Amino acid sequence: MSFALKLMDWYRENGRDLPWRNTQDPYVIWLSEIILQQTRVEQGMPYFYRFLEAFPIVTKFAAADEEEILRLWQGLGYYSRARNMHKAAKMVVDTFDGIFPRRYQDAIRLPGVGEYTAAAIASFSSNEPRAVVDGNVYRVLSRYLGVTEAINSTKGKKLFAELAQEMLDPQHAGIYNQAIMDFGALQCKPKKPLCATCIFQLSCVALRDGLVDALPVKLKG
Ligand code: ADE
Repeated sequence: MSFALKLMDWYRENGRDLPWRNTQDPYVIWLSEIILQQTRVEQGMPYFYRFLEAFPIVTKFAAADEEEILRLWQGLGYYSRARNMHKAAKMVVDTFDGIFPRRYQDAIRLPGVGEYTAAAIASFSSNEPRAVVDGNVYRVLSRYLGVTEAINSTKGKKLFAELAQEMLDPQHAGIYNQAIMDFGALQCKPKKPLCATCIFQLSCVALRDGLVDALPVKLKG
């Protein structure tokens, strides 16, 4: 069985039931993903509910006073995220007729939406085959494939983006992307990964070569 199919089987049994996973609304997905940048799931969850209650649709978000948005954001830090969200919501109204974009190439035009967030929006909302590349993906793929290229070098970033896209199941991009993130968060963890119970024990290059703790490689500076 392929990496992707095994991973999605694992996810069906072990994945977390998170509130933003029960929607295909690109606005709700965007909200959750911006909140979860540099914020842990447990910390971000109450903010996610708070924002959704205050602004159930993007046009309400766009029409809000910036002070209200910043007040709701209090405690999350990186206030540029909140300001960019307001700009993005206004752009949805002005440029996309109030309809939150689902396509990667549209979503990435929004302020504060980079490659990761655009891939998350496109894949979770409509299964557009775009691989997410976050810290979990770097860790899982570097270990499984035994890639020693640094994840923060220009060459490494390009390589991992290509590998992530090759490993993706293009028919099930949304589930696959959620699955690899949970696999990285719960099984293939940064410290004390659970190799003894891992479904990829027989095919993981890092486990075979004793490189699990050495990967992914990150250059400092
Ligand atoms: N962190 C960022 N995005 C996430 C998601 N969709 N599911 C779980 N954790 C996440």
